[in-house]
Amino acid sequence: MIEGTNILIVDDNNDITCILSDFFLLNDCNVYTAQTGKKAIELIGKENIDVAILDVKLPDINGIALLDTIRIENQTVAIIMMSGYNDHNTIIEAMKKGASDFLLKPFELDKLILVMLRTLRERSLLIENEHIYKSLEDKKKIELLNRELQGKIKELTTTYNISNRFNSLNIYDDIYEKMLDIIFDVLDVKLCRFYFFDNYSKEPVLYKEKKRNNGVAVDSSTFLSEEFLQHLHTPKKYLIRDNQLFLPITIKDEHIGFVLVEKKRNGLEISNHYRDSDVFFLKLIGEKASTQIENRILYESLFDNVFQTLTSLIEAINKRDTYTESHCKRVTATSLLLAEKMSLAGYERDVIKFVGPVHDLGKIGIPDSILLKSGGLTEEEYQIMKSHSIFGEEILSRFVILARESKVIRSHHERYDGKGYPDALSKEDIPVCSRVIAVCDTFDAMTTNRPYRNAMKRQDALNEIERCANGQFDPSMAECFIAMMENDTDD
Ligand SMILES: [Fe+2]
Repeated sequence: MIEGTNILIVDDNNDITCILSDFFLLNDCNVYTAQTGKKAIELIGKENIDVAILDVKLPDINGIALLDTIRIENQTVAIIMMSGYNDHNTIIEAMKKGASDFLLKPFELDKLILVMLRTLRERSLLIENEHIYKSLEDKKKIELLNRELQGKIKELTTTYNISNRFNSLNIYDDIYEKMLDIIFDVLDVKLCRFYFFDNYSKEPVLYKEKKRNNGVAVDSSTFLSEEFLQHLHTPKKYLIRDNQLFLPITIKDEHIGFVLVEKKRNGLEISNHYRDSDVFFLKLIGEKASTQIENRILYESLFDNVFQTLTSLIEAINKRDTYTESHCKRVTATSLLLAEKMSLAGYERDVIKFVGPVHDLGKIGIPDSILLKSGGLTEEEYQIMKSHSIFGEEILSRFVILARESKVIRSHHERYDGKGYPDALSKEDIPVCSRVIAVCDTFDAMTTNRPYRNAMKRQDALNEIERCANGQFDPSMAECFIAMMENDTDD
């Protein structure tokens, strides 16, 4: 029934306190008593009180004020008021402030037990309600945390993907084009552009553009005002105008250009066109692109240094054999023309540009007695001469960044039919740049005077190339080369 209940009796009348204590102790309750309001508040703070029975008149505080104070301290303590005065106003005020009942002294103990039972039932409902409310609140909090967590995971995944895509770029990729691709995939934009600042005029020049289907180009005159450009030269600032966002691209504190992105006009307020996450990702993409461009500049500078070193080696050969110098220059020029006619990719043309002048670099390892011999070579001498393609590869392979180029040098004497050297590769197994150089190298050798033979006539040499198509040379390249040379009016 009421056993086990923790009850606090607050009354300055000792007789009443004793009677009530005895009664509740007989009903196996735990009883605490206080003569003053102060003592009562102390016990409420210290003990786990279920029900407090308060007298309205206490020596230090009014019982109604004590009711208020207890409510502030503890919402779940049930409070029963008692008084010797039948004052309606006091009763109404006590009930308004949350008292469970009001007993007029003297009262029957049987009535007290009924009041206690009802009060405990109401309190148990109140506590259960509070638990339900709290668990609902907890559920809402968990849902909110889950949403925040999902947002964070999405943000981290996008950040990782952006970094990963930039890190996987190779040296021949166009960084600006890739940057626009990534912006397009990450942000819901209908158009993005990259502008360079012209070195001399400092005017922006459109370099790349990417549009969604039905994207309409923005009118450049609407944003390239003096004020606007000044803003874009402010370090690390971005600018949002209507549905457009401009982000400067900076390398070592120098503004090399800016990205413009444009979102769909979706009827939102201007400030809602771009979320914080849009700006965050755009800035991240801009920073990653800047780092890649810086690395590319370093790489190219390293590449130039290596090229200078190799050129010095070639000069050493040229001092021994003047033929090699002019021959390499002509082979490079013709190979680049052929590569263009064959529509080879930009990076393949870059490889030819690098390899062409140094493709016979390995001749540095060939003794003068063979390299400069005026008559024909013996079989043994010829075998030594052939090793120049492997020597060339060995020299270049010391530079890790020239792995592709060293393979092209190794294979520049391979034949399409698999009868070349040093690896007897055939058809498409031979690097495409080696196949290009092979045609131009042979043509130039045939049409140049050597100490041991006179140059062939140009047409005879072209006929020879035609005859050797599909044997020594890639047929499509041989055909393209002949057409290219026949259209050349220099002869
Ligand atoms: Fe060669």
